[in-house]
Amino acid sequence: MENGYAKYRVAVIGSGNWGSVASRLIASNTAKLPSFYDEVRMWVFEEMLPTGKKLSESINQENENCKYLPGIKLGSNVIADPDLESAVKDANMLVFVTPHQFVEGICKKLVGKLRPGAEAISLIKGMEIAVEKFSEATIGYRKDKEAATRWAKLFTTPYFLVSVVEDIEGVELCGTLKNVVAIAAGLVDGLDMGNNTKAAIMRIGLREMRAFSKLLFPSVRDNTFFESCGVADLITTCLGGRNRRVAEAFARNGGKRSFDELEAEMLHGQKLQGVSTAREVYEVLTYRGWQELFPLLSTVHEICIGQLPPTSIVEYSEHTPNLSIIGDPHSDSQAQYCQWNQKLEDLDDELRGLILVVVWLLGGRVLDLGGYCGCINFTD
Ligand SMILES: NC(=O)c1ccc[n+]([C@@H]2O[C@H](COP(=O)([O-])OP(=O)(O)OC[C@H]3O[C@@H](n4cnc5c(N)ncnc54)[C@H](O)[C@@H]3O)[C@@H](O)[C@H]2O)c1
Repeated sequence: MENGYAKYRVAVIGSGNWGSVASRLIASNTAKLPSFYDEVRMWVFEEMLPTGKKLSESINQENENCKYLPGIKLGSNVIADPDLESAVKDANMLVFVTPHQFVEGICKKLVGKLRPGAEAISLIKGMEIAVEKFSEATIGYRKDKEAATRWAKLFTTPYFLVSVVEDIEGVELCGTLKNVVAIAAGLVDGLDMGNNTKAAIMRIGLREMRAFSKLLFPSVRDNTFFESCGVADLITTCLGGRNRRVAEAFARNGGKRSFDELEAEMLHGQKLQGVSTAREVYEVLTYRGWQELFPLLSTVHEICIGQLPPTSIVEYSEHTPNLSIIGDPHSDSQAQYCQWNQKLEDLDDELRGLILVVVWLLGGRVLDLGGYCGCINFTD
């Protein structure tokens, strides 16, 4: 508290491409808004640059992340800090923006190191925001609309509109699962199948995203899939993202060069999310016995590990799942839908915990650091 009102200090955990864009955006707002301290501390996973200089030193000297966001000034109030504990110690608003595979390790290091009452949000997506092209985002929240609105204020600019929806799991799962669908879209591109096929794959993907989310969390709302975090983010990721691009190359090579190899060659340190997410989704599907309900999500994983050829992405139509049981609760299958729900309701605490951990590992990042669970999903 300062001068009788809360003053917030923001730390950004992550400094890749989107981490740098987010820090820049946030810093432009904290410099203007009196309820925030100007300085935004950005934790940098330290790397040595080819010049022999440390990345964090270079960022602080040049005010630019020459590896992950070259050519764009971050703002003089962005301070790069390679020490995680020092980066977060004074912050009461934490922005998680690191590739999801590192989140667990980072969270373990943060245990006991945060200010009491610190809030957290996780970010997904957002390229054109760096050059201030019009774009949108959705913040998912559980109950605390006031906190969600404060986060929205931190991110909103005239070129970047942020809305809030009371559906944290829905927003998170949209952001996570769309990367798997983007792999499918990239395979279609690599097979030169054209826009109609790609649109069909995107539609089936969106349907499976919604069904999977609702089976895991019955509270997930249909409307969330029509927010920017849903259909808009799916479209942009399937048209232009890195998952799509690498999957296209994978298909063009007939599946003979692995995703790991192509990621290293094509992304120069940036990380793919779709392949590891597909594996994690597959583990959930296998564990629950749901594979046949989700042929697209399952097939993507089986292609990624070389069990199926890339062409299989359009060869599963005989196994069309009966997803109407999830899409239309008033259909004849309503009883079956209710059974699914009941099944989930019946899960004991341990199993619910397991699902939460799995979703978190999926990139769901359901973090609760001081009462507020936040997530944000950007359309680039
Ligand atoms: N940039 C975008 O528009 C975009 C697009 C899609 C998704 N996202 C999401 O944003 C999140 C962050 O992506 P990004 O674009 O900022 O990162 P990035 O892929 O550009 O960069 C990878 C980052 O991971 C760091 N890193 C490497 N090894 C690490 C380790 N062992 N521990 C911790 N960090 C390590 C690197 O230093 C770098 O900061 C991801 O969850 C991603 O899905 C961003």
